[in-house]
Amino acid sequence: MFEIVVLAVISFCIVSILWFTLKTGISPMPSSVQVRLVILKASEQADDGAVVDLGSGWGTLLFAMAKKYPDRQLIGYELSWLPWAYSRIVVAMCGMQHVRIYRSSFLDADFSNSSLLLCYLHPEGMQVLQQKLLDDQPVRALLVSSTFAFSDVAPVHTIRVDDLYQTPVYVYRFKKKRAVGVQHKE
Ligand SMILES: C[S@@+](CC[C@H](N)C(=O)[O-])C[C@H]1O[C@@H](n2cnc3c(N)ncnc32)[C@H](O)[C@@H]1O
Repeated sequence: MFEIVVLAVISFCIVSILWFTLKTGISPMPSSVQVRLVILKASEQADDGAVVDLGSGWGTLLFAMAKKYPDRQLIGYELSWLPWAYSRIVVAMCGMQHVRIYRSSFLDADFSNSSLLLCYLHPEGMQVLQQKLLDDQPVRALLVSSTFAFSDVAPVHTIRVDDLYQTPVYVYRFKKKRAVGVQHKE
């Protein structure tokens, strides 16, 4: 009986992760340690203000940011139920008062008090995010994207991580109305 319950729970977890991977277009795979270190360093270019992880997965990057910035508000948005629940438990157990993780889409979020946006998405996700940041809800923030770039906005820097894939990390600076530092590719 115990084995059946364990098997059912494991199957539920696997199906849940697969379902949300298909739904969002990306798995909750965390950024590698090398990529995380590069993003942490790049984050120093942002002004003071809330830090938001757009798709926070298991919370690995968000927790590293929370450690680096104990006096700032850290916000994660994650749709996938299991990584969201896990990261919420870690937040509660570690007493991270300055971290909030919402089980909702970052596309519905308001970034007006945020100074730093982080993402590790996929090409279509970047396209939708680009439209939100350029047209629907312009922001004043630094955005650091692992692996994937915007199609119509140029980064202020592109950093190549010293790993097997030479993973690109793109740094964008958005200044309300239009992305600045940022030549639009028109
Ligand atoms: C590759 S993981 C990145 C995890 C973490 N940011 C990191 O770098 O370690 C991408 C996550 O984005 C989530 N995601 C994709 N689209 C989303 C959306 N619109 N709203 C919230 N989460 C989303 C996925 O569920 C997935 O867990």
